[in-house]
Amino acid sequence: MTSLPQETHTITPRRVKFDWQDTPIQWVAGDPFTSHFYNALHLIFPPIEAWFCQVFKQALPLVTDEKLRQDVIGFMRQEAIHGGAHGLVLEHFQAHGIDSNRYMAFLRRQIDRALGDRIFGIPARRLGLERWWLNTRIGIIAAGEHFTCMWGKFALEATNIESWNADPTMLDLFRWHAAEEVEHRTVAFDLYRHIAPAGFFHRLFLMTGVVPILVLHWTMAMRFLMRHDPNLARRPSLFREWPRAVRAGRLLSLRKIAGASWRFLLRGYDPRTEADTSLALDYIARSPAASTAR
Ligand SMILES: [Fe+2]
Ligand SMILES: [Fe+2]
Repeated sequence: MTSLPQETHTITPRRVKFDWQDTPIQWVAGDPFTSHFYNALHLIFPPIEAWFCQVFKQALPLVTDEKLRQDVIGFMRQEAIHGGAHGLVLEHFQAHGIDSNRYMAFLRRQIDRALGDRIFGIPARRLGLERWWLNTRIGIIAAGEHFTCMWGKFALEATNIESWNADPTMLDLFRWHAAEEVEHRTVAFDLYRHIAPAGFFHRLFLMTGVVPILVLHWTMAMRFLMRHDPNLARRPSLFREWPRAVRAGRLLSLRKIAGASWRFLLRGYDPRTEADTSLALDYIARSPAASTAR
């Protein structure tokens, strides 16, 4: 097992609460595309972050480094709160005409089938692949966390965010979550290289699966929301609207996402250098929801 660089920061769960009463579904005024681009995360995060916690729980007994053990526990607590917070937005959306219950049941089934304890329907243990499958799933989470860190950094550094004319409660939810993603950005990768070889070819194997599946699910979630949004007269075009939102500084470009995917494969990759924890803590200090939680 690899020894890990020690850091003193303690990952703290924050029991935030949001009041959704006045938040519209299209919460970036005049920009339904950006609104639904981010709204897709309300569908994706609750089941995927619950799955992160399940897999981390399986890996916890393998952790021999006490600081990493504490980080893993802090990570699981934060992710459980994130999933719950996004789930409450879905309840609010339901009251405004978007019923996502069937969609969420479909997503949970997909995750369970593809990423549960079975490989093609056969228990990994029976195939003698239990440990490899656990390592691989931890690696998938590390790859996913690389992207949530990139998104978190972008959300915290977007200097024009105040001019988006966006709902302040939704902005706070996304930036609080973004901040905690930056705060715990090292945990999944540290766990991955603690319990698995984490070499180039395994990471390449992970990335070739994670990127298309992420793009597919994000697109599907956006299309679902746009189809069911009672206030959306015409569905915006992904190919026209994404570049427009990138130019407006509201979304990450495909070039940046491709660059980040490549960086994850490099020998010297370390999530510590991907963002700065002080960026996260600065936002946490002024987040209305995190202040209430304190
Ligand atoms: Fe999260
Ligand atoms: Fe995370």
